[in-house]
Amino acid sequence: MRIVSGIQPTGSLHLGNYLGAIRNWVLMQDALNAGDQAWFFIADLHAITLRQEPAELRQNTREIAAALMAAGIDPARSILFNQARVPEHAELAWVLGCTARIGWLNRMTQFKEKSGKDREGASVGLYTYPVLQAADVLLYRASHVPVGDDQKQHLELARDIATKFNTDYGVELFPLPEPTIPPSSPRVRSLRDGGAKMSKSDPSDQSRINLTDSEDEIRNKLKRAKTDPEPLPETAAGLEGRPEARNLVEIYATLSGESVDAVLGRFGGHGFGQFKPALADVVVAHLAPMNQRFRDLLASPELIDRALAEGAERARETARETMRDVRKAVGFFA
Ligand code: TYM
Repeated sequence: MRIVSGIQPTGSLHLGNYLGAIRNWVLMQDALNAGDQAWFFIADLHAITLRQEPAELRQNTREIAAALMAAGIDPARSILFNQARVPEHAELAWVLGCTARIGWLNRMTQFKEKSGKDREGASVGLYTYPVLQAADVLLYRASHVPVGDDQKQHLELARDIATKFNTDYGVELFPLPEPTIPPSSPRVRSLRDGGAKMSKSDPSDQSRINLTDSEDEIRNKLKRAKTDPEPLPETAAGLEGRPEARNLVEIYATLSGESVDAVLGRFGGHGFGQFKPALADVVVAHLAPMNQRFRDLLASPELIDRALAEGAERARETARETMRDVRKAVGFFA
């Protein structure tokens, strides 16, 4: 297994990132066998596709690293680093940009969402973002990429790019990476709008539970989370057409390790006045220990910085090897 995944440092880590991806990173890391490797990185090159304040970017990068370590990523077992420290990511992205087709990128839904109405005014980087993401994965010849369901399309593109590169140059340089999207991990929705995913970029902090929120903040956000006036249904089928109710029940089920039906077996027929405090208990029980570790780590930023620098050195060993093969395959004099 060669496991690779990344996260953007554009805000704090939230429950969607945790349930959709990070929890799975930790599980996969903990199941590594001899000969397996895992690379987890903070995607700072991706972050600048939208305008970032430099000082904030630096602080967010450090905080995301601390949050990942608090969530269980161990720099002794996984290679943890920030992407910009490994210049081969950008170099491979250029080469793969010459393999990817414009028509393929035109189909990427995230660009459409992020560029909004002002497509002409979006950065070129935002458009070619999925090519950089393909480079991130292929640089380490990943076999498995644990991501949330919203990244599936980008991973399919990475497979298409790998296939075309191998075919065009008559090599078997890149294995096809498998997205690992656990069926039990839902796409976590905004607490204010069941139609939108929970996201770092939502201007309302009430829309998400950050891994760094205090117990009071978590309880308040869940208390104020949007719901509907009906009591909870008895079975999962009854959640149809009730996205806010579904989201809260799925969060409960995922964290408690139960099925949605089992949760509804207990709470079905009751209102949210009863369910929300029970949900808050489960969320707080999971996040409180992480929260404490996060604060302890941030008190020693030099430890985080050292871990990232060392991680980048280790990542570069593999990155350089892949680039040597890529240069040779393409016909560069180097
Ligand atoms: P990012 O930073 O938006 O999110 C990091 C991870 O969290 C998952 N995720 C969610 N899962 C469930 N519900 C949600 N509401 C939710 N929000 C986020 C994402 O699926 C992701 O797995 N482009 C990527 C970062 C990236 C990357 C890569 C990932 C760059 N290069 C190479 C994998 C491999 C991104 O913006 O994720």
